[in-house]
Amino acid sequence: MAKKITDNISWVGKVDWELKMFHGNELSTRRGSSYNAYLIRGASKTVLLDTVWGPYDKEFVARLKEEIPLDKIDAIVMQHNETDHSGALRELLREIPGTPVYCTAKGEAILRGHYHQDWNYVNVKTGDKLDLGGGESLTFIEAPMLHWPDTMFSYYNGCGGVLFSNDGFGQHYASESLFNDEVPQAEMMREAEKYFANILAPFCPMVTRKVKEILAMNLPLAMICPSHGVIWRRDPASIVQQYLLWADAYAENQITIVYDTMWNGTRAMAEAIARGIEAADGAVTVKLFNAAKFDKNNILTEIFHSKALLLGSPTINNGYSYAVAGLLEMVKGLKLKKKSAAAFGCYGWSGEGVKLLSEHLASAGFNIVDEGIRAQWNPDAAALAACEEYGKAFVSKLQ
Ligand code: FEO
Repeated sequence: MAKKITDNISWVGKVDWELKMFHGNELSTRRGSSYNAYLIRGASKTVLLDTVWGPYDKEFVARLKEEIPLDKIDAIVMQHNETDHSGALRELLREIPGTPVYCTAKGEAILRGHYHQDWNYVNVKTGDKLDLGGGESLTFIEAPMLHWPDTMFSYYNGCGGVLFSNDGFGQHYASESLFNDEVPQAEMMREAEKYFANILAPFCPMVTRKVKEILAMNLPLAMICPSHGVIWRRDPASIVQQYLLWADAYAENQITIVYDTMWNGTRAMAEAIARGIEAADGAVTVKLFNAAKFDKNNILTEIFHSKALLLGSPTINNGYSYAVAGLLEMVKGLKLKKKSAAAFGCYGWSGEGVKLLSEHLASAGFNIVDEGIRAQWNPDAAALAACEEYGKAFVSKLQ
């Protein structure tokens, strides 16, 4: 069912309470998500911004028909064409073929690549306007790599100023409430941070540039309407400021220890190192995660949140564990800046796991604090005491 945001803007998206994984199996969602689409009824033009994910295409079109006769839609604006937003376009354009589809040139290429259709594309660039009548318009702002090359934002000068930001400022957060002031704040911000860490972190320089560019426009801003999660209605500037912080080598006073373990030796090392850190610095938050048992995207968010990472694995077949390898591959892709790291782990004979982990952490952009620590076979009391001392020394090397 459509929901009114203002007198002339309606939300016509889909709340997906069932979603658990996004981007195939790459990204977990703790609290579902939503695919937000919006309908703006201007004085002379009615415009639809974005659609929803393919599995909901028929439902989307049927509900849209309840809101408006489809032939009253004058234009469709596709701000970003990943299939969670463009998935219902084919179903919709079957009903209203020829309706202009406003998108960037890269957006057209993506739509053609995904759907192989010769739709009525209208390419737009930053500063181009779609006149809605009555002095109101949508102004397009290209936002490449936030988070795909085709991404653009759309600024509506009615209703006190509304920025439609597609994936930017989004959260994978299903909610029957549309607005940020109507949901639990800590829960919402956890999802906003997880979303940033896992989706936007690789593009921090572009985020900073684009946010500053938009702030320099000095546009009135009553609301930010993203394509996932709640709308930023109360103090929309706060999420903009938060994005500037997250995009600038963000780190809280936290050290995250991530490990895998075969016979609990590397786990015992992790716990001993944590005791050492805690003894040396009572102010720092220390968190431990078994990479094989905990959600990879939640762990990545904790690493994003931290100033340092300790990564542990037993040496296995001259390498390290499957779970740690997968996580290391993912963390490398996030291109995190100014974070420290070191490696640790048990071994039986060859023992090169820690050295390899250190090398791969360095290639992922971490500042390697030292050569790490190893323990042969199952760590005894002396080995665990050495791990505690190692934890204390690790903290002092971060100063
Ligand atoms: Fe929500 Fe990049 O699609």
